[in-house]
Amino acid sequence: MKCLILAGGFGTRLRPLSCTLPKLLFPVANRPILDWTIENLAKHGIDEVILAVNYMAETIMRYFGTSRHGVIIRYSREKRPLGTAGPILNARKLLGDEPFLMMNGDIFSDINYSALVEAHRSKEGAVGTICLYEIENPGRYGVVDVDEDMRVKRFVEKPTLAPGTKKPVNAGVYVLDPSIFDYIPEEERKISLEVEVFPKLAEERKLYAYRHEGMWVDIGVPADYLRANRLLLEKLAAEKPVIGENAKIHPEAKISNLTVIGDDVEIGKGSYIGPYTVLGNGVSVGEGCRIEGSILFDDVSVDNYTSIKGAIIGKSAMIGKWVKIEEEALLGDYVEVADNVTIVSGVTICHSKSVEESILEPTRIM
Ligand code: GTP
Repeated sequence: MKCLILAGGFGTRLRPLSCTLPKLLFPVANRPILDWTIENLAKHGIDEVILAVNYMAETIMRYFGTSRHGVIIRYSREKRPLGTAGPILNARKLLGDEPFLMMNGDIFSDINYSALVEAHRSKEGAVGTICLYEIENPGRYGVVDVDEDMRVKRFVEKPTLAPGTKKPVNAGVYVLDPSIFDYIPEEERKISLEVEVFPKLAEERKLYAYRHEGMWVDIGVPADYLRANRLLLEKLAAEKPVIGENAKIHPEAKISNLTVIGDDVEIGKGSYIGPYTVLGNGVSVGEGCRIEGSILFDDVSVDNYTSIKGAIIGKSAMIGKWVKIEEEALLGDYVEVADNVTIVSGVTICHSKSVEESILEPTRIM
């Protein structure tokens, strides 16, 4: 079976990191999110993935090439953004005339795709089957109402619910029949599957649902991107840290469990790394540092006695001595932070910026 993956969004909510890296290449425990997805798809017998690309298409194509984990990779390029439904029509020739899987590429999950496909096949006349995931306080997601036969009755956008209420939301993963092509307007514009196509199918009683109960995170915002990493660390490094090749860790440094350290990483005397931390390949950390709950992309350097907590730091950033970086700070690639600077929670700094003085209020440095 083929799988169409939407890989063309701008990822504006992950700026500034998404200014230089497409969201689907964001590392989760040091491997791009899309790489984990393709591996999971391969385990469920998917033999061909079609990536619908637009923003930073070349970067994605260069990384994934023509095959990955034994799966053939093809590309469907868009001249302009086509939203979530337009890419289906655009990829029509590649998709052929069999039912196919389709998903948003920014979903990190362990969905049982075989069971989802099976659920779709078991419903006669189904044009689509949506994967549902139950979450507390659905907030930014649309809630999906189903009947006892798992037929979708309706979609409820941003419902008012008592705090703590759990509701099933659209998990952004579907099985679609080729007849879906007839439901998408042939127009070169952004067309939303969720708003313009699915409600019509539900009205015609041709849309079904399947409940997924394992892991599911949409990495669209920084807090959820960190959460996807945390969930994977709990699987990979619950008992002890995972340490890459050629790591030079000082005997008096401490690496806690729930930490993944990439290849060629250096960590100096007295530094304490973790938990819930990922250091990319080639990261260097000086003496007496404390890094916790953070993601450092490849080749970041951190000088002595610096503390980083709950932050995401882009590739090749250079952080000085005695620096303090607090929760939910986002630093783009190649940012330089001078010695003794404090960056408080909620600050975002655009790539390649130099920061010479402390930033003590949540601000966006462009
Ligand atoms: P934000 O700008 O932060 O909303 O992110 P986004 O642009 O990625 O949008 P969203 O999170 O809604 O996208 C969900 C999935 O659809 C992601 O995998 C995107 O890459 C993808 N996507 C969004 N818009 C397009 C598009 O116009 N074309 C293609 N091919 N994919 C898209």
